[in-house]
Amino acid sequence: MKALIQGFSTPDIFKDQSKLSFDYIPDELMYREDEARNLVNLLRPVMKKGLSQNLLITGTVGTGKTALAKRFGTDFQEIAAERKLNLQYIHVNCRQRRSESQVMSKIVRHFQPHFPDRGFTVNEMLRILMRDVKKQNCKLLLVLDEVDELIRTSGSSLVYSLSRFNEEEIYLKGSVSLILISQKNIYDMLDSATLSTIKRSNRIHLGKYSKRQLWGIIEKRAEMAFYQGVVEMEIPELIAEIAAQWGDARYAIELLETGGMIAQGEGSKYINAEHVRAARAATYQNITTEKLESMSLHQLLTFLAISRALNKNAYVSTGDVENIYQIICEEYGERPRKYTQYWKYINKLIDIGFVDARSVSKGMHGTTRHITISDVPLFSLTKQLEKMIENRK
Ligand SMILES: Nc1ncnc2c1ncn2[C@@H]1O[C@H](COP(=O)(O)OP(=O)(O)O)[C@@H](O)[C@H]1O
Ligand SMILES: [Mg+2]
Repeated sequence: MKALIQGFSTPDIFKDQSKLSFDYIPDELMYREDEARNLVNLLRPVMKKGLSQNLLITGTVGTGKTALAKRFGTDFQEIAAERKLNLQYIHVNCRQRRSESQVMSKIVRHFQPHFPDRGFTVNEMLRILMRDVKKQNCKLLLVLDEVDELIRTSGSSLVYSLSRFNEEEIYLKGSVSLILISQKNIYDMLDSATLSTIKRSNRIHLGKYSKRQLWGIIEKRAEMAFYQGVVEMEIPELIAEIAAQWGDARYAIELLETGGMIAQGEGSKYINAEHVRAARAATYQNITTEKLESMSLHQLLTFLAISRALNKNAYVSTGDVENIYQIICEEYGERPRKYTQYWKYINKLIDIGFVDARSVSKGMHGTTRHITISDVPLFSLTKQLEKMIENRK
């Protein structure tokens, strides 16, 4: 053991590992200039005219939704303060705080740090919040991150109350602006009253990062987190290549960090391709599980249909998959979703990066779509999907 512990004194390859942590927010988000400008423009009335705005940010995992909102919120609060405007930015992750009451107590705690976690109803907490906002004479920029989770478990009533917060009393007019963040487009999850508080045009969608963009992001992070020369030349591109399947910057950064840990553990002074491959193997299960967990039941059923259909074929047609989907729905006692919805599921799987599609010509009859699953071992995927579906039921 002593020899191992003495190994602690081998030179550290990390210059600053915290730059790779999930909660590190870069000063500037690369490749998101247009989206950032859009966000600033949508919230301009808050600064200029004291009006409130509600908006929605969407995108798959690792597209920079949280980072964008946090960078914006922090900078906005600072600039507001310089202009003598009391603006308070509050960020709540609704996946970590799974009920309306937990979300509300986190918000109230911004003003009252010792506010208890239990003992108050949601409505009481809303009133307490109103009182605090009035007392401080401030504006709130409230970010509800992963809000689809809250809506799925509790409906949209809290979102509604918060978006209408302004109208309750005249002195609160324009005092709360909401930024909702979600992987899914939540418009079809909201009731019409809530829907009417968020304009459709107030949506910012963050697309998946391309390989080229991930490459740039990783190069920059590598520079901040490791000593010069530690990360071998071809590594950023290799990581980008792997993560491009998902377009996910979080996964790319995780690969870089895990690769670094593996290299360091071996006493290597450099991170090479072998370390990245080992990092990929080590994180593979996590990444697929994380992506699957964010899917709805019928999304999983569709995926299972593809996975079973591919058992004997390299490619299958979407029509064949639909038949199998219907059989699977019967098996699990679920009513199959309509054709258009089924198509949305297929497209979502393509969008996330689980499924690859190609168009095949049928001669005079136009084209048909053939799909396959890229890069995931089918047998274990089928098993994992079946288990997850059973757990949901
Ligand atoms: N454009 C970008 N430039 C630099 N880093 C980024 C960018 N987009 C995302 N990241 C980093 O990638 C990780 C995942 O981003 P995050 O905002 O958590 O994604 P999301 O909330 O969409 O899942 C974070 O560490 C974040 O700092
Ligand atoms: Mg996020």
